[in-house]
Amino acid sequence: MKTSFNILLFVTFLLFCTEVQTEYPTEVKYWCGKPYIPKNKFFKNIQQLKRDINQCSKQATFDSTSKDSIGYHDTFSPSTIRLPPTREPIPFVPNLSNGYTATFRNQPYLSTDSIGSLVVTVTNTTSTIVVKASLDDGTEILAATRIKIEENAVEVPFSLANIAPKLKAYDVKISFYTKDDGILVHTTYSKLYHLPTGPKTVKIDRLYGGIFTSTNETIFPVGPYVDVGGWLAKGNIRANLQTLKDLNYNIISPDPPYPNISFIHQMFQAADEIGGIYIQYSFRHEYTNTQKVFDQVNQFKNYSSLLTWYIADEPDGEQWTNASAVFEAYEVIKRVDPYHPAALVLNCQHSAAFYADSTDILSTDVYPVGINTFHSTEYSGVCGCDNCVGNFSLDIPKRTQKYMIDLDLIGRGLIVKWMVLQAFFDQNSWWERAPTFQEIRAMWYISIIYGYKGLMFWRFPFILEHSTRDQITNLSKRIKDLSDYMLSMLQLSPSHIIISPDWNIYAGGWISEDQKTFLLIVVNDNKEFFINFRITIKDLISLGLLYGVDKTDCGKESQVFIENGIFEGNLKAYEIGIFIFGKMKPIMETCV
Ligand SMILES: *[C@@H]1O[C@H](CO)[C@@H](O)[C@H](O)[C@H]1NC(C)=O
Ligand SMILES: *[C@@H]1O[C@H](CO)[C@@H](O)[C@H](O)[C@H]1NC(C)=O
Ligand SMILES: *[C@@H]1O[C@H](CO)[C@@H](O)[C@H](O)[C@H]1NC(C)=O
Ligand SMILES: *[C@@H]1O[C@H](CO)[C@@H](O)[C@H](O)[C@H]1NC(C)=O
Ligand SMILES: *[C@@H]1O[C@H](CO)[C@@H](O)[C@H](O)[C@H]1NC(C)=O
Ligand SMILES: *[C@@H]1O[C@H](CO)[C@@H](O)[C@H](O)[C@H]1NC(C)=O
Ligand SMILES: *[C@@H]1O[C@H](CO)[C@@H](O)[C@H](O)[C@H]1NC(C)=O
Ligand SMILES: *[C@@H]1O[C@H](CO)[C@@H](O)[C@H](O)[C@H]1NC(C)=O
Repeated sequence: MKTSFNILLFVTFLLFCTEVQTEYPTEVKYWCGKPYIPKNKFFKNIQQLKRDINQCSKQATFDSTSKDSIGYHDTFSPSTIRLPPTREPIPFVPNLSNGYTATFRNQPYLSTDSIGSLVVTVTNTTSTIVVKASLDDGTEILAATRIKIEENAVEVPFSLANIAPKLKAYDVKISFYTKDDGILVHTTYSKLYHLPTGPKTVKIDRLYGGIFTSTNETIFPVGPYVDVGGWLAKGNIRANLQTLKDLNYNIISPDPPYPNISFIHQMFQAADEIGGIYIQYSFRHEYTNTQKVFDQVNQFKNYSSLLTWYIADEPDGEQWTNASAVFEAYEVIKRVDPYHPAALVLNCQHSAAFYADSTDILSTDVYPVGINTFHSTEYSGVCGCDNCVGNFSLDIPKRTQKYMIDLDLIGRGLIVKWMVLQAFFDQNSWWERAPTFQEIRAMWYISIIYGYKGLMFWRFPFILEHSTRDQITNLSKRIKDLSDYMLSMLQLSPSHIIISPDWNIYAGGWISEDQKTFLLIVVNDNKEFFINFRITIKDLISLGLLYGVDKTDCGKESQVFIENGIFEGNLKAYEIGIFIFGKMKPIMETCV
C-alpha cells in the first residue's frame, strides 16, 4: 500500500504515542478483497481475530496459536471485532471480446485532423477478417475492410470528414465478419472523440504507446511521485521543478494535499514556463467529491504542462471491484475536459477488468523488494505487493500477464499501460529494504519489455543511497533517449520472441513500419551469471541479414548482427543489452 506522505507522518506519530494513548481498531480491514491484520495496529484479541479471519477466508493464513513478534498486542480480554462479510478475492471476468479488440489510435481527434485510424487485434483467427465501423446513428465511418491478422496489432485508417466535431464522444460500433461468407462473428463498441480545436490537447498513441503533449512533444513518461508538502511547496517552486527536469524526468505526479489553490496555479505556471516537464494532477483524496473534481478540472485544464488527470490511487485496495465512484469521477472529468487523458493506478492483481473503462491510461504499482509474504495468500493477508512472491523477475510478469488476460477478455487489451515501481523502503509498513540500483534498472527494463509505456516511481525526495540516485538520473536519460525508437515502432508481442536458454533472460523487440529499423532490449536478470543466449524473432526471419550496434557500454559500441531472425549474444550478470539494427549498415550514434 502506498500511503500518502501525510499518512506516513501520522503513522510515525501514532507509534511514538502508543505508550500514552493506544487506539484499538474494532474492524478488520480488507485489501484487494482479502481480510488482513494491519501492521502496527493493536487488537485486543489477536488469536480470536486470526481464527475469525481464517474462518471467513477460503484458505487459512494465520496460525492462531503462535505469538506474533511485531506490532500486535495480545494482552486484553476478548472483544468484538467486526469482520466485513466474505468477499471474493478472485472475481470472475467474463469473456466479452471473443478474442477481438478495437480502439482508435490517436485520441482525441480534433476538427483539424482529417484521418483517424482504428487499431485492431484478433486472437481468434490467424487468417483474414473483415472489419466495419459505424456511428451510433448508423453513419458508416469505415466501410467493410479486409485485414490480414498476424498476431500483432493492425492499423486501419479512415476519413474523419463525415464526423461532425462535438464535445461528447461517439459510441462507435465495430463489426467483424468472416472474409468468404460475410458472417458476423463479433461486435464491439469503442468511444470516438472528434473535438472542436482550441483548447490544450494531450493525445494518446494507442499503437506505439506515446503521449503527444499539448506542446507537440511525443513522450515516454518517466518520473516520480513527488511529496508536495514536504518538498515541492518548500522554497521556490520554479527552482524545484527545474531540479526535477534536470534529473531527466519529463513527468511528475505531485502527491496531494496541496497547501492552497494559488500554489497549484504557480506550479502549473512554472512548469509551463520551463517546458518539457509535465504534471499528472491527482484527485486521490478527493475523487468522490465530484463538485471539487469539476471545479479543479475547470481551473487547471488550460495549462500546457497538464498531462493527465489522476483520478485515484489504488482505489481497488479498499473499494476492491466496486469502481462506481471512479467511474463517476471519470465522467465528470470527460464532461468538463475531453481534451486530456485520465489515469489511475491499481494495486491488486485481479482488478484490472473492473477499472479499465474508467480510465484512459491504466497504471499498476508493483513493490516486491524487501517484503515478507509469510502471512499472505491468494485469499487473505497483505504483504505490500498483491499476490507477489517477493522476486520482481516473477512478480512484474505475473501481474502483467494477469492484467493482459483480463483486459483481453473484456476487449480492452489495447489500453495504454504505465508502471509504478519501487524506489523506497518503509520499515513501518511492508518494505524492509530499498531496491539496489541493479534491481531498479532491471525492474525498469523488464517493465518496458512487458509493454508498459510510462515508468513512474515512488517516491521523491528519495529514500535511497546517493549512488543509486545518481544512477536513476542516468537511467531516466537513457529511457528518454530510447523513447525515440520505442515510440515510433511497433512493439512485438512476447510470443514472437523466443529466448534460449530461457534462464531469467528477458527480451523485447520493436520494429519500424518500413521494417528497416529494429530495436532489441535484453535483460540478464541473473545476479551472478554471465549468459550466452540466442533469441529468435519470428518477424525478422524473412529479412535476411540485419546489421546492428550494441550499445550496452557507453563509448564501447560494438557491431552485432541478426541473421534470418536469429540473434546471438551474451551479457554479464545484471547487464542490460540495447541493440539497434538497420537494414544496410550499423546505425552508429552517440551513446544512449
Ligand atoms: C474467449 O472466447 C473466444 C471465442 O469463443 C475464444 O477463442 C477464446 O479462447 C476465449 N478466451 C479465453 C481466455 O477463454
Ligand atoms: C472465434 O469466434 C467465433 C465467434 O465468437 C466462435 O464462434 C469461434 O468458435 C471462435 N473460433 C475459435 C477458433 O475459437
Ligand atoms: C480556458 O480556455 C477556454 C478557451 O479555450 C476559455 O473559455 C476558459 O475560460 C479558460 N479557462 C480558464 C480557467 O482560464
Ligand atoms: C509538431 O511537430 C511536428 C513534427 O514533430 C511538426 O511537423 C509540426 O509542424 C509541429 N506542429 C506545431 C504546431 O508546432
Ligand atoms: C500557499 O502556500 C504556499 C506554499 O506553502 C505559501 O507560501 C503561500 O503563502 C500560501 N498562500 C496563501 C494565499 O495561503
Ligand atoms: C459501491 O460504492 C458506492 C460508493 O462509491 C456505493 O454507493 C455502492 O453502494 C457500492 N456498491 C456496492 C455493491 O457495494
Ligand atoms: C527470482 O526468480 C527467478 C526466476 O525463477 C530466479 O531465477 C531467481 O533466482 C529468483 N531470484 C531470487 C533472488 O530469488
Ligand atoms: C552518470 O552519467 C554521467 C555522465 O555520463 C557519468 O559521468 C556518471 O559516472 C554516471 N553515474 C553513474 C552513477 O552511473
